[in-house]
Amino acid sequence: MERQIILSASHVKKSFRAGMKNKVMAVNDVSLEILKGETLALVGESGCGKSTLARLLMRMIKADSGSIFFEDQEITGMSERELRPFRREMQMVFQDPASSLDPRMKIRDIIAEPLLAWHVYDSKEKTDERILELLDMVDLKEDCLDRYPHQFSGGQRQRIGIARAIAVKPKLLVCDESVSALDVCVQAQILNLLKTLKNQMGLTCLFISHDLAVVSFIADRVCVMKDGQICEMAPAEQIYKNPGHEYTRYLLASVPQVIDF
Ligand SMILES: Nc1ncnc2c1ncn2[C@@H]1O[C@H](COP(=O)(O)OP(=O)(O)OP(=O)(O)O)[C@@H](O)[C@H]1O
Ligand SMILES: [Mg+2]
Repeated sequence: MERQIILSASHVKKSFRAGMKNKVMAVNDVSLEILKGETLALVGESGCGKSTLARLLMRMIKADSGSIFFEDQEITGMSERELRPFRREMQMVFQDPASSLDPRMKIRDIIAEPLLAWHVYDSKEKTDERILELLDMVDLKEDCLDRYPHQFSGGQRQRIGIARAIAVKPKLLVCDESVSALDVCVQAQILNLLKTLKNQMGLTCLFISHDLAVVSFIADRVCVMKDGQICEMAPAEQIYKNPGHEYTRYLLASVPQVIDF
């Protein structure tokens, strides 16, 4: 099968001011490619620059230097107006579904919002039909529609966040610590759901996590970040069986092992 690149970054840098004189290089000369249909995991310790890199790739913030391409179009310096069509293609699932869902909106309206904003359907009936389809895809029942976010569990709220993110059939889904706030059982359910959706929709996913155990379950390739730089990028199996970088071995050693009685 031909290798298609959805998103690529070349020598991307981003620094932030830290106090009067200092700067922190949050992303320091990063180059990577995300291939169509793959789940690329971005792992590394807190503060290593994962979220900043994701925001750069999605053009939520601007890079200081380097270039970013979505498919064959350079988006590095595009204005908000030029970026608009790309916004639909890249959707995000956030870490905390409680704060990323508007507490005053019913689930029906939360999922309808992107469909209406992008004028996806020309009638209310078709929009309603799609909302039901999305609910089914994330394993929620129809009676959820007239309830508010606070009436759901964390896992259910994350399902709603996922339904909202995939509503407009994006090409790239970015999940930034999307299961980190959930307990282990619910984490597994949401990871399974993401896997199923990936197969059903041919989704490409950039999956960010500090947790290598979570990543091992979902990633095709793993990109290990440290201090704003990529130190290793390889197929998931290789990362776990034969890590090439000392830092990857250090991260692997810190994954809790199930006790062998
Ligand atoms: N808007 C900002 N202003 C100043 N510094 C920032 C800003 N955003 C990020 N940083 C700094 O950039 C570095 C990378 O932060 P980033 O949020 O990308 O890390 P992360 O890998 O996502 O961490 P975590 O796993 O805790 O989410 C950190 O040192 C952080 O303090
Ligand atoms: Mg982060």
